[in-house]
Amino acid sequence: MEFLKIAIEDLKAMNNYREVINIQDAQRPRVHVNGREYIMLASSSYLGLNTHLALIHAAQLAAHEYGVGSGGSRLISGTMSLHTQLEAELASFLRTDDAILFNSGYDANLGAISTIMTEKDIIFSDELNHASIIDGCQLSKASLAVYKHNNMEDLEQQLKRSKNECKDNSNKFIITDTIFSMDGDLAKLNEIVELAEQYDAYLMIDEAHAVGVFGEHGRGVSEHLGVENNIDIRMGALSKGLGCVGGYIAGSGELVDYLRNKARSYVYTTSLPPPVLASALAALEIVSTEPGRMLRKQLWDNVEVFKKGLNSFGHDTMSSTSQIVPILLGSASRTMEVSKYLFDSGVFATGIRPPTVAPDRCRLRTTVLANHCKGDIADVLEVFRRMNEELTINC
Ligand SMILES: Cc1ncc(COP(=O)(O)O)c(C=O)c1O
Repeated sequence: MEFLKIAIEDLKAMNNYREVINIQDAQRPRVHVNGREYIMLASSSYLGLNTHLALIHAAQLAAHEYGVGSGGSRLISGTMSLHTQLEAELASFLRTDDAILFNSGYDANLGAISTIMTEKDIIFSDELNHASIIDGCQLSKASLAVYKHNNMEDLEQQLKRSKNECKDNSNKFIITDTIFSMDGDLAKLNEIVELAEQYDAYLMIDEAHAVGVFGEHGRGVSEHLGVENNIDIRMGALSKGLGCVGGYIAGSGELVDYLRNKARSYVYTTSLPPPVLASALAALEIVSTEPGRMLRKQLWDNVEVFKKGLNSFGHDTMSSTSQIVPILLGSASRTMEVSKYLFDSGVFATGIRPPTVAPDRCRLRTTVLANHCKGDIADVLEVFRRMNEELTINC
C-alpha cells in the first residue's frame, strides 16, 4: 500500500511520527525501558492504585472465583454479579440514581453522546474537549457549536444565538471535560451550570482525570466546586485515578436505562473482565475513605513542589491547576528535542504534537503521582535545571 508509505514519510518529515515505547515492568514512579531506569512523568495512574496490593489481591481472587473473561456482552451472557455490584457502588459513591459501565472512558463518551443526542439537537462543546467527546458528537449527527476554551462569553453568545435556531423538540447539551487533559486546567463549572440553567440546556461533564483525585471524597471537580446536583450526565473513567480500566456514565434512572437499551458501545461488545471489576471495587473503597484522602494529600504536596521548581526555572506551565502539568514549548521540533533530552537523561515525559494540540502549542505533558517520592521529584527537577543550562533553545 504505497499511499500509506508516503503518508508515513510525511508524518516523519513533519515531526509527527509516533513510536511506542516498551515498558518492561509495572508502571510505578520508576520504570525500565531497554534495561534502563526512567522516572515516570507520563502516567495517568495519579494515585498509584494500579500497583496497590488491595487491587492486585482483589484481581487475583476474582480471577480464581470468576475466571479472566466475562464470556459475553452485557445483554447476552456477560453480566456477572461483579458488574451489577460495581455499578451500584459507583452510583452510591457518586450519589446518583444509577450508573452504567463501559469498557473504556472512550466508549462511555462515544456511547452516551451518540445515543442521547440526535440530529435535532445542538451540542455546545469546549474546543479542547477530549477526542472521545468530539467523536461522539460527530456520530450523534447533532448540530455542533464549539466554544472557545473555557470562554464563558463565547459559550453564552452561542447559547443566545441558538435560541432563534432551535427546532421543535430539540434539546441543548453543554459538554465539557472537568480537567482538560492536555492543559491541566479546570472547567469553570459554576458558571457553566448557571448558563445551562439560564438557557435551558442539559449539562454533561467528563471527569476522566478528576475522579479519585479532586473533591473531599474523590468524586471529582463537580464535588470540589459543589455543583454535583446540577449535572445531568456524569462521565468518568476507571483507568486513571482509579488505576484500572473502563468508564462509566452516572445519572438518573431513565438515563442509565435508556443507555442500557440503546448505546452501541455498551450493547455490542464483550463486557469488562472480573479481575478488573474487583480491582475497581477495591479502588472505590480506597478513594472514598481515609487512605484516599491521604493519597490526595501526597499528590497535591508533590504537585506543589514540582510546579514551584519548574516555574523557578522559567518554564511556562500554562494555566494548569491540577496534577497534569504541561510545559509549553511551541513547535513540534522543539518539543521533540526537549523530550529526547529528558529521555536521554532518564526522564519519561511525553511530547504532545498535532493533531492533539495546535501546531504552535506543542508541549511536554507531565503528570505528577501521589507515589512519587521526594527523591523522584528532586531528581527530575535537577534534570530540568541541567537541561536549561545545556540546551541552546530557550524553554
Ligand atoms: C478527558 C478524557 N476523557 C476520556 C478519556 C478516555 O478514557 P479511557 O482512557 O478510559 O478510554 C480520556 C483519556 O485519555 C480523557 O483524557
